[in-house]
Amino acid sequence: MNKEHKESSAITPLFSAEAIEKRIQEIGKAISLDFASTTSESPLLLLVVLKGAFIFAADLLRTITIPCTVDFIKASSYGSEKISSGKVTINHNLAIEGRHVLIIEDIIDTGLTIQQVTHELMTMKPASVSICTLLDKPEARKHPVEMRYTGFIVPNAFIIGYGIDFNEQYRELPALGILDS
Ligand code: IMP
Ligand code: MG
Repeated sequence: MNKEHKESSAITPLFSAEAIEKRIQEIGKAISLDFASTTSESPLLLLVVLKGAFIFAADLLRTITIPCTVDFIKASSYGSEKISSGKVTINHNLAIEGRHVLIIEDIIDTGLTIQQVTHELMTMKPASVSICTLLDKPEARKHPVEMRYTGFIVPNAFIIGYGIDFNEQYRELPALGILDS
């Protein structure tokens, strides 16, 4: 990562902007093929988990070639601490019933957040729920999760950049890196 940051913490580069773009193209193609039967009467719903997945979702959306709509849910964990507290808020006015839903997540760590999101969504009677995550940290898993699409597997370290923050910082970095502790 060659961008200087306001804080002096060291960042170890993990995936370049080019590598991310290439992987997203592949995922977008796979989604467009897998949901090819989707029609504009019943488009695929991309449900983006804020805030961390906003940049991933924006780039992924533009590689998808089937009818889709986008909505957002808020799931905040990590405050200024590097631990997961897993609080999920889903707006129940979202039109989920009968829809094929693809959750767009930035990173799956313990699995708690995505498990809670999936559980909440199931009560809203979707046709199906699938998970697309940019990053998977399998070594940190405590709650089993089945992902349909994964960008990259990452080590059990603290990742920042490309929308993903530590204490609301580093989201603006175009590449992904490890925040050294
Ligand atoms: P989980 O509930 O433990 O799976 O945590 C999932 C959420 O915590 C992710 O959606 C992220 O927002 C955040 N998170 C987990 N690991 C990291 C990390 O390495 N860097 C930044 N945020 C993380
Ligand atoms: Mg998240």
